[in-house]
Amino acid sequence: MSDDPSSAETSQAPINTLVMRQLVKYLESEKEKGRSHVLLDADARQVLRHLSSRPSAKQLDNSTAPITTPAPSIKKIMIAPNKADTIDPLGLDPISPSLSKTKQLAQLEQQLRGWLTGNFPQSLRQTLVFSSGSPDGRIMLIGEAPGHEEEKALRPFEGPAGKKLDKILEAMGLNRNEVYVTNLVKFRPATPRQTTNNRKPSVAEVAAFMPVIREEIRIVRPQCIVTLGATPLEALLQTDSTVSSMRGSWHQYDGIPVRVTYHPSYLLQSGESTAVKRMIWEDMLAVMEKLGMEISAKQRGYFLPNS
Ligand code: URA
Repeated sequence: MSDDPSSAETSQAPINTLVMRQLVKYLESEKEKGRSHVLLDADARQVLRHLSSRPSAKQLDNSTAPITTPAPSIKKIMIAPNKADTIDPLGLDPISPSLSKTKQLAQLEQQLRGWLTGNFPQSLRQTLVFSSGSPDGRIMLIGEAPGHEEEKALRPFEGPAGKKLDKILEAMGLNRNEVYVTNLVKFRPATPRQTTNNRKPSVAEVAAFMPVIREEIRIVRPQCIVTLGATPLEALLQTDSTVSSMRGSWHQYDGIPVRVTYHPSYLLQSGESTAVKRMIWEDMLAVMEKLGMEISAKQRGYFLPNS
């Protein structure tokens, strides 16, 4: 990010207008995806303050005219902490496929521990939260990143969203030990003066961990992957499509069927809406069908209106 006035691309009102439009567009798309919080850096917040002090910030969407009121001289908005942008993808030592799945995963976990000592980015915290469940699980569920509760328990999906996930699995006739549960990012994203608050991992943080999730998928080789929420969907299927547009059909990752569904915290945020419950449940029914699991009439009818 530059605010150097000598730069040809900065400080011009039309460019600032573009930046503001991009920020508004970004915030609208996040809202559409069901996100209620985003982390913005100081420059983005400055742009928002500028927008809210203008008489009709909404006109921005339609306006092509340069803004005449003084605007912050910013050419690019960073959505994540700056340091995260310098993370290199994690270089992994090869893991022998002839070892058992448990041993291969243990080696992968060990490499992540080693990564802590040297080149670990400041934007992530230091406690490794690797995965839980069975490496022989037929279903691999992928979330975003650990939060406060997960960091305390050293296991993914421990807080309210985790309890919801347990309920979903229970409705399928499964428990955590029969599936493999993991996150894209294995360390809790940090925030200034952090207590129990969590944040979504940045694009750069997710990118740094892609070699790890790829390796986990290679090792576990599940019969089906379920992505929970927008972040694993975007990362794994390399798309910026929304969960609502991608759920309801099958996708593929390296020949493995992928079912996209909402994150359990979206269900919580929706006030446990029956409509959201039913959509998640339909995705889970599709998974059960794909795996040839028995489905009772009662299970088929869960969360239908008037059921
Ligand atoms: N949300 C996630 O995506 N993963 C967790 O482990 C907890 C909450």
